[in-house]
Amino acid sequence: MATPSRALLLLLAFAVAAHERCAAQGLGAGGGATSILIKGGTVVNADREEKADVYIKDGIIDAVGPNIKVPGGNKVRVINATGKYVMPGDLPGNLFPGGIDPHTHFAFEFMGTVTIDDFYSGQAAALAGGTTMHIDFVIPVNGSLAAGLESYKKKAANAVMDYGFHVAITSWNDQVAREMEVMVKKNGINSFKFFMAYKGSLMLTDDILLQGLKKCKSLGALAMVHAENGDAVAEGQQRMIDFGITGPEGHALSRPPYLEGEATSRAIRLAKFINTPLYIVHVMSTDAMEEIAKAKREGQRVIGEPVVSGLVLNESWLWDPDFTVASKYVSPPIREAGHGKALQAALSSGILQLVGTDHCAFNSTQKALGCNDFRKIPNGVNGVEERMHIIWDSMVETGKISVTDYVKVTSTEGAKIFNIYPQKGAILEGSDADIIILNPKGRFAISARTDHSRSNTNVYEGWKGKGLVEVTISRGRVVWEDGKLNITAGTGRYVKLPPLGYVFDGIEKSDAAYRASLRAPVQRGKVCG
Ligand SMILES: *[C@@H]1O[C@H](CO)[C@@H](O)[C@H](O)[C@H]1NC(C)=O
Ligand SMILES: *[C@@H]1O[C@H](CO)[C@@H](O)[C@H](O)[C@H]1NC(C)=O
Ligand SMILES: *[C@@H]1O[C@H](CO)[C@@H](O)[C@H](O)[C@H]1NC(C)=O
Ligand SMILES: *[C@@H]1O[C@H](CO)[C@@H](O)[C@H](O)[C@H]1NC(C)=O
Ligand SMILES: *[C@@H]1O[C@H](CO)[C@@H](O)[C@H](O)[C@H]1NC(C)=O
Ligand SMILES: [Zn+2]
Repeated sequence: MATPSRALLLLLAFAVAAHERCAAQGLGAGGGATSILIKGGTVVNADREEKADVYIKDGIIDAVGPNIKVPGGNKVRVINATGKYVMPGDLPGNLFPGGIDPHTHFAFEFMGTVTIDDFYSGQAAALAGGTTMHIDFVIPVNGSLAAGLESYKKKAANAVMDYGFHVAITSWNDQVAREMEVMVKKNGINSFKFFMAYKGSLMLTDDILLQGLKKCKSLGALAMVHAENGDAVAEGQQRMIDFGITGPEGHALSRPPYLEGEATSRAIRLAKFINTPLYIVHVMSTDAMEEIAKAKREGQRVIGEPVVSGLVLNESWLWDPDFTVASKYVSPPIREAGHGKALQAALSSGILQLVGTDHCAFNSTQKALGCNDFRKIPNGVNGVEERMHIIWDSMVETGKISVTDYVKVTSTEGAKIFNIYPQKGAILEGSDADIIILNPKGRFAISARTDHSRSNTNVYEGWKGKGLVEVTISRGRVVWEDGKLNITAGTGRYVKLPPLGYVFDGIEKSDAAYRASLRAPVQRGKVCG
């Protein structure tokens, strides 16, 4: 079992990152002003806040500190963060690492249609909302992961910001196992997603999930699960149809939270059995969250990802008499009021670790594919543009989390888990210059008429709140300012995610302890014959 050491892989990762940085410099980082000095702001990282200037050069943060002086010249653009963004007095900081959304679906072919946001519009929306990197899900093509990755690379040709990929595993055979290895060793993939729901299409059985967990562990890749009991959900859907319930409320009624709790518990126990870290996507219910809390108390490495819709919405919308309104909220399953509050509390106490969106937008025409059968409503909500604003407004403004924890759950934790920290997730010397200037006194208002998603609907329609992303800097380029985007298709960069992130650290030691604990085989001399 000659697995390369974690240190060696980290070294390689840095070498790759450094190489890619040089390439980015060669391209002039998109051709904008090459240097920016942000003066007089308060820099917030996951571990502290400090008054500091930030100097950006060639897409990288060159220096962070008080009173930075840079050689003059018209190539340096100075942004004064004092007067413009921070009012005198007791306000929190205002320079944050750009958001990282660990869970999006752009240009995703699903349920007979394709998400309305592709990489261009989805990323435009992200940047306008202060998110500078996302990780999307590659879906295999004809069972091939390589073909799936190729297809997603084509889809991402119009990218305007940095992105990475997870790969979904939707079937199992020797070829899939071999391709997983190639994905990790050659293609910058360090996580694979397994669906325990969507019976008949994406769903996998437990024996395959076990094979997948073993393979992930051997590669130092993180296993992710969509945890709902797919057999029971299918049964629940049929039950609602038999009751004559065909509208969007049938979606909620067919998949009660305990089916999510059951699958979460099952996935956690299988991961415990294999002794490999597990990442639960879109934790939507108290039921699932309690399973994660319990596993964490017992020392198991389980990461829970709530999504914005699950944190702040409740299922009452699904009963709206207007189909266009109700169908917007179909999936991931938004729960009864109360679950969201519990998920917020779990996020603030570290039981849940980072916030995604599962941005998977369909417009009202697409949602109408399910006008007489909720099972045919394309599943997905928006959120990539709203995430940073809504989490600030509903959790920082209300005192539920500190500004440093805001950075942690929206950016740093994602960078650490997917093993690209501190290239991403921090405002530090040497990090990529992905920075947002958020004015705590600014106000935002959400509407499909003004957002940047291509959808004509928005699940946060009418939400007004405090804390406004006024400037977004993506790899050293000001891409969002004065309410306007300045982006160029094709400037986005694929960020390779190296395996053996921190969640794998020490796994081999606990494996050895387990082997030693067996006290077997027992030496018995001659037993048979
Ligand atoms: C937009 O960005 C380009 C380079 O990225 C820059 O040359 C141009 O001046 C910017 N336009 C505006 C209006 O800021
Ligand atoms: C930045 O803005 C503040 C407030 O308007 C002002 O007092 C300060 O002199 C400005 N600093 C620079 C370097 O322009
Ligand atoms: C999938 O496989 C079938 C049969 O081998 C082939 O006809 C089809 O072109 C393939 N589709 C794609 C997208 O590669
Ligand atoms: C559930 O959501 C609706 C619509 O946003 C809201 O009016 C209602 O107050 C929420 N219920 C609770 C108990 O929070
Ligand atoms: C939704 O998107 C489809 C496909 O792009 C388009 O044909 C349709 O007109 C859109 N509907 C609305 C209401 O914008
Ligand atoms: Zn998803």
